[in-house]
Parts: sequence; C-alpha cells; structure tokens
Amino acid sequence: MVRVRAPATSANLGSGFDTFGVAFDRPADVVSVERAEQTTIEVTGVGSKYIPEDPEENTVGAVAEALDAPAHIRIDKGVRPASGLGSSAASAAGAAVALNELYDRGKTQEELVPIAAEGEAVVSGDAHSDNVAPAILGGFTIARDDGVTRVGAEVPLVACLPEIVVSTRDARRVVPASAQMEEVVETVRNASTLTAGMARSNPTLVGRGMDDPVVTPARAELIDGYDAVRVAAFEAGATGVTISGAGPAVLAACHAEDKRAVALGMMEAFADAGVEARAFQTRIGEGATVV
Ligand code: HSE
Repeated sequence: MVRVRAPATSANLGSGFDTFGVAFDRPADVVSVERAEQTTIEVTGVGSKYIPEDPEENTVGAVAEALDAPAHIRIDKGVRPASGLGSSAASAAGAAVALNELYDRGKTQEELVPIAAEGEAVVSGDAHSDNVAPAILGGFTIARDDGVTRVGAEVPLVACLPEIVVSTRDARRVVPASAQMEEVVETVRNASTLTAGMARSNPTLVGRGMDDPVVTPARAELIDGYDAVRVAAFEAGATGVTISGAGPAVLAACHAEDKRAVALGMMEAFADAGVEARAFQTRIGEGATVV
C-alpha cells in the first residue's frame, strides 16, 4: 500500500488566471492506494458525502486510467470540495503520485502534472493544471501547456473559506470572453510583479501583483460579502487580496506578524454579511509527499 499527503492549493492568485498556483502547508488530502483488478474508490472526511465514488465521475478514476494502474483508492478529504482550495486537484495529485509509486511507473513530477490534470477535466470540464502543478511540485508554480516552472517561495498567506459553495463550472461560465488592451497591460504588469515577489519571497510585491481587472471582478458577484472581506483584509494589514481559484475562498498575502489579524478581519467581515467562515493561516508549502 502507498499513502500520499497532497496539499490544498490556490490557483490564479488574481493576475495569473489558469496559470499561477501555490501549494499550502495545510489543509491536505491523504490518498491511499492498493493494487486491485479494477479501480474502486472510497471517500471519507470533509465534504465526502458530495463526492462520487464511481471511478467514471471521480477525479482519481481518470488518473488511474491514464496511468493504467487499477487500484483500490481511499481518499481522506482534508480539503473541502467546491472551496477554491484545489480540492479535486489534491485528490488527483495524491492519486497520481501514489499510483506512480505503487506501479513503479517511473514518471517524473513534471510528467505527472498533465496526468493529474485529466482528473481536473472530470470535475470542471477542462484539463487546466494550475492547481495540480503546485499540488505535485509544491511552491509557486507557473503552468504552461508545454511544462511547469516552479519557484520556491516563503510568503505568509491566509485563506478564508465561507460556508457557501461555488462550483468551478459555474465560476468559469462568468469569465469574460475577451479583455480590453489596457486590462491586458495591467494584468501583465501585475503578473510580473507577483512573479518577482515570489522569487524574492517578498509579500509586498506578491500582494501588489494580485490585482486582476478581468476575471476576479466578474466572479466576486458569486461570493456574498467579497468586497467587505477584501476591505477588512487590507485594513488588517494584507498586502494583497483576491479570490482563491474559482472561489468562494478568499486569499490574502501578508507579513507573518499580520496573519492572525487578517484571518480574524476576514472572518468577521463574512460574519457581518451573514456568512459563516473559517480561516487557514498558512504559508507556501511542499507538494504531494509519500508518507
Ligand atoms: N484556474 C481555475 C479557475 C482554477 O479559476 O477556474 C479552478 O479549478
């Protein structure tokens, strides 16, 4: 049997839609695999009752098929589904790393990224790899169709998860089909600022580079209280705030000493909007690891 801990992740970081991602040090899914004639799936943990166990419908079924590695796969969910924290990616990444080990397939971490992304296609209709890349490689990642660039970074982060559900499919439907030239220029400016900030582990630059004039404003409509939460996070010392992945979690970058205040400020602002929320005070962590 092989068991893998695969972390929650945050994709986009505002200016890097479908491109940027970071691994968190917590929460995480734990995926255990044992060889079997046919793939079967068992899911326990946070939100498990909403996750199908049919291999045709579960993210890890596609991964087992892509690796030609039938197994009994147990997923203990630590990452809530439909949260914006890379829940399906954590399971897909965990399964890819575990099955690669179990069947001795010899794939590199980079080679496992498109395989785990096949699992993402099952849940969102699109094989984007901005969550699976950091879930496998850890750190800050820039995912392209022809490969992934990983940057090791130390940046304090707070992810505030409200008790509302936004499906990735729905959140992708509201993404504008096109952007104005000045929005493109602003996005490039912000994305490059963020990348430099990651390379320097500089929370001020990372936060500044999170602004996004195109996708985030459209998606903010789907998250009750988003604008107030953003203001509260900045007031508490956040250096940048955006929607985590497809939402509804909200991600803030900050200096280490402000983490707690930012987390409390965001939770209180959600509470004022009538939405219960919890906050993870986290940082950029490692990718999926055999335990
Ligand atoms: N980049 C994706 C999105 C992440 O924002 O839709 C969610 O899977």
